[in-house]
Order: sequence, then C-alpha cells, then structure tokens
Amino acid sequence: VFSHVVRAPEDPILGVTVAYNKDPSPVKLNLGVGAYRTEEGKPLVLNVVRKAEQQLVNDRSRVKEYLPIVGLAEFNKLSAKLIFGADSPAIQSNRVTTVQCLSGTGSLRVGGEFLARHYHQQIIYIPLPTWGNHPKVFTLAGLSVKTYRYYDPATRGLDFKGLMEDLGSAPSGAVVLLHACAHNPTGVDPSLQQWEQIRQLMRSKKLLPFFDSAYQGFASGSLDKDAQSVRIFVADGGECLVAQSYAKNMGLYGERVGALSIVCKTADVAGKVESQLKLVIRPMYSNPPIHGASIVAAILRDRNLYNEWTIELKAMADRIISMRHQLSDALRARGTPGDWSHIIKQIGMFTFTGLNAKQVAFMTKEYHIYMTADGRISMAGLSSRTVPHLADAIHAAVTR
Ligand code: LMR
Repeated sequence: VFSHVVRAPEDPILGVTVAYNKDPSPVKLNLGVGAYRTEEGKPLVLNVVRKAEQQLVNDRSRVKEYLPIVGLAEFNKLSAKLIFGADSPAIQSNRVTTVQCLSGTGSLRVGGEFLARHYHQQIIYIPLPTWGNHPKVFTLAGLSVKTYRYYDPATRGLDFKGLMEDLGSAPSGAVVLLHACAHNPTGVDPSLQQWEQIRQLMRSKKLLPFFDSAYQGFASGSLDKDAQSVRIFVADGGECLVAQSYAKNMGLYGERVGALSIVCKTADVAGKVESQLKLVIRPMYSNPPIHGASIVAAILRDRNLYNEWTIELKAMADRIISMRHQLSDALRARGTPGDWSHIIKQIGMFTFTGLNAKQVAFMTKEYHIYMTADGRISMAGLSSRTVPHLADAIHAAVTR
C-alpha cells in the first residue's frame, strides 16, 4: 500500500550532516548545521550544564512523572524573565503566558497553530532569506506565508528600505516573523534605531510581531543586549509572540528545550490564551520532556550557576568571533579576490559568505567541506586548525 511513496529529499540543513557522515575523507569539515564545536572540533557540554545535571541526579526526591501540558512552571517563569527582563512590567502584570515547548521549532509551531485557530489575520511575513524551516513550520500550521525583503546581496547588509516598504504594504494585522538577534542565515541585524523604526511602523499598521529568539547571548555576548529588540516591542504595551530556544546558548540541542511566550493586553486574556495553547499541545505531543527544562531551571534560578553560564556563553561567542578574524586574515593572506569584510561584520553563529550553489558544490566535492547550498557557513564549526583548509577551498572556488 505504500509502493507509490516517492523518496523525499534530505532536509537542506540537517541533510548536510547526513552527507558529511557518509564521507570517509579525513579532512572533511561540517560547517552546515549551526552547532557549536570546540577548538578540537568536538561538541561541547557546558560545565554549568554538567553541574546542574549532577544536582538533578543527586536529588533522590525527583521523579519521572508527566509534566503539566504547559511544562515546568518554574522553567516557564524563568524563561520569560530571561527574554523580557526581570523587571518587565508585562510579567509583573501577568500579561504574559509562557509554555514550555520542544525547542525553538516546537515553540514556533505551537505559536503558529494557535494563530491559525484564534487570530483574525492568517498571513505571516518571513524575512528573505530566513531559516529554511520557517516557511514549512508556518505553512503546516495553517498560515499563509509571504516574504519581506531583508538582505541586500550587493552590500551584504540589511535592506532596510526594502524591509520598511514591504512591511509598510503588508495587510493590516499580518503576523511578522522577526529574528530577535543574530539573524539566521545572514548574520545581519537591524541597529537599535532601526528596530525602533520597525516597531513604530508595525504598531501603526497593527502588524503582530512573532520573534524567533534562537541565539540570545550569541550576538553581542550579553543576554540582555540580545533581548533588546523584543523588549522595545514589549515596552509599548502591545502584543507579541516569542519563541525561545536553549539549543545554542546552553548547548542543549538534543534536549529539545524551549518556550513560547505570548504577551497579551491583560492578565485575563493571557489566562484564556494559555487555556487554548493547552488544546494545541495536548493532541500534538501531550506534554514536554522534563530533563532539559529541569537543567535550564536549575541554572537560571541559582545566581552562581547563572553567572557561570554567562561566562561560558561569552567564551563560545568569543571563539566564534576569533574564527571570523582568522578566516578573514587567511583570505587576505591568500589574496582571495573580493571584499570579505562581511565575515567580520556579520554576527552570531553564521557567515553568509556570498558563495553560490556551484561554488559550494565544488568545495564539497574537492575539499570535503559541507555547508548549506545558500553559502552559509557555521563559524561555530570552525577551528584554528581547519581555517587554512576552508580558506584554501574558498580561494579555489572563487578563482577557478
Ligand atoms: C541551523 O540553522 O543550522 C539550526 O537552527 C539547526 C536546525 O535545526 O536547522
């Protein structure tokens, strides 16, 4: 009965890892998925996460009961504080509902499904380009996906004029997906002043912001600074949605831990919204897993662990910045044609190199370097040892 099923293509991002795993070359390099690696090229479990896990193991009172549908209450509370700020008036007036979800993707999906059921405008605008999973998540949630201009290939920077024009002509009430910081894949963010202009435009047109916050702490190295975009929207008293992920900033990728917050006008509305989120979640996966959320709660509640976390997070962000400088220097040393200053200017985990699909294919075939076809490389996958190999490959790709 399934013989008619055709083989689907691999995922454009996670499929890169599948191809990488099959390659027997000793020099192969995976710069596809945005996952942090150490200087030795190894995945990193943060020390502070090990400590929190040890606490959990030692606590014999812990059981493996189901969490409530909305997840671990303390985790939700602390997650809201982390993104909105400890003194956020929206939290103090109970206008925010936060539910634990399966990392960033799950939070986006639950938010999307809620909007499809309960929001009057079914159109969501996503930036061009954006994370490859965004259009699929929102289409399957039942929303109609449109794009707004974001990146200008000519300047390798923000197309602010295009962005404002496209949002300016969006239908009233449309949802707008915004990357809270460290835009994926471009590494290009609006300035604070531009965020303020975006806010004014969106509020005047009653556009509903839906933030994807997957890299808090990775853009500037400061958790508070990286939340500024979200906070200026929340400060005006209006509504918004925020999807948070702890995959990158706590290195909890496989634990699938994240949160969806919906900021409402009143506490009464927030309570009703939460009751409907439960109806979205229950038939989807019943309730979320306990372990990752317990780790996050243990770290966020304890001042010492929290401080340790910020130091380890900053170290990851700094290592990525150092990779940017090393790669830029290596290309300069090779006299590679072109302006590569964007490698240093772009922020977060990725460099949007400007290499085209053909050049990417060449680098994979000849140099065993794996990256997404749009020319995005994960700087977090690079090390001092592998920079020369990547620089050789880029040089060869652009001069052939
Ligand atoms: C990425 O963009 O590489 C990450 O967000 C991982 C993923 O799930 O695609």
